[in-house]
Amino acid sequence: MNYDYNSNVRPEEMKRITTPALAAEFIDEQIAALRAQIGDKKVLLALSGGVDSSVVAALLIKAVGKQLTCVHVNHGLLRKGEPEQVISVFRDQMKANLVYVDAVDRFLDKLAGVAEPEQKRHIIGAEFIRVFEEEARKLKDISFLAQGTIYPDILESKVGVKAHHNVGGLPEDLNFELVEPVRLLYKDEVRVVGKALGLPDSMVFRQPFPGPGLGVRCVGAITRERLEAVRESDAILRDEFYKHGLDEKVWQYFTVVPDFKTTGITDGKRTYAWPVVIRAINTVDAVTAEPYELNFAFVQKLVARITSEVPGVNRVLWDVTPKPSATIEWE
Ligand code: XMP
Repeated sequence: MNYDYNSNVRPEEMKRITTPALAAEFIDEQIAALRAQIGDKKVLLALSGGVDSSVVAALLIKAVGKQLTCVHVNHGLLRKGEPEQVISVFRDQMKANLVYVDAVDRFLDKLAGVAEPEQKRHIIGAEFIRVFEEEARKLKDISFLAQGTIYPDILESKVGVKAHHNVGGLPEDLNFELVEPVRLLYKDEVRVVGKALGLPDSMVFRQPFPGPGLGVRCVGAITRERLEAVRESDAILRDEFYKHGLDEKVWQYFTVVPDFKTTGITDGKRTYAWPVVIRAINTVDAVTAEPYELNFAFVQKLVARITSEVPGVNRVLWDVTPKPSATIEWE
């Protein structure tokens, strides 16, 4: 094959990577290309634990080993168990250089009292760059910045839909050269490559997760208690979807905790607590979306678990609104 993987245009003759054999061929080519590009220099990668950055990390670990430093920023808005999984897969199993940054207090302090969705997104994005920049400066001698840019990002940035650089916005004096080994691949191909690289299914077949994470599911001004209610209810939802095989049928599913309370009764005592909203949708491109018709007994099981296991919650709602009129997320 040997395509120009730095081009912005995917060559028409480039075969879709659909099998382990094609993935292995791509991996071998990329390892050689990465070694040629990087030489004996050092590379930095912001590793979120999402599919794209995880596949880039695994490729670079194979190609240049300890010349790669991965930085995993925990902004406090990740799902339950995610930071632990990143550490276990990359530091313990793949023996990567991994810097884990616990920035939970930093982010949550900055977000305190901020209710407006776009302002929340802006704070999360800007603070992420600041934390990453600080880590980059501490490391010194870094020549390359690796990114999990994929082909749809390039197509979208061409037509001005979104800026594709995940950590775009770093100060100019940190003028790293970019390393983007999966930039010509579609998402399904990235998953096939990730599987061939030995990444766990829970990482490779993850549902999409927004950059601002649980922050946009803790509607309005985020408090630590309500954020925990989002995280715990999300963990229960994911557990039940997995147990019932729904993770393979539903494109995106999550919980939302709005910023109001309603009355309830627990053990004969009146409560005044938050509702949890369940959202499960299918879509092709996230531009429009349809609610997934969950089985009523299954919904009741979710209600029972969430109301009994999640502190501060006494009610569960199911959002069956398509997009449009609603967006997929609540903010
Ligand atoms: P909406 O809510 O706009 O979501 O219908 C469409 C898809 O995009 C995801 N989403 C985001 N992803 N940063 C992201 O990286 C964001 O700020 C963001 N907002 C929404 C959402 O999860 C859904 O898959």
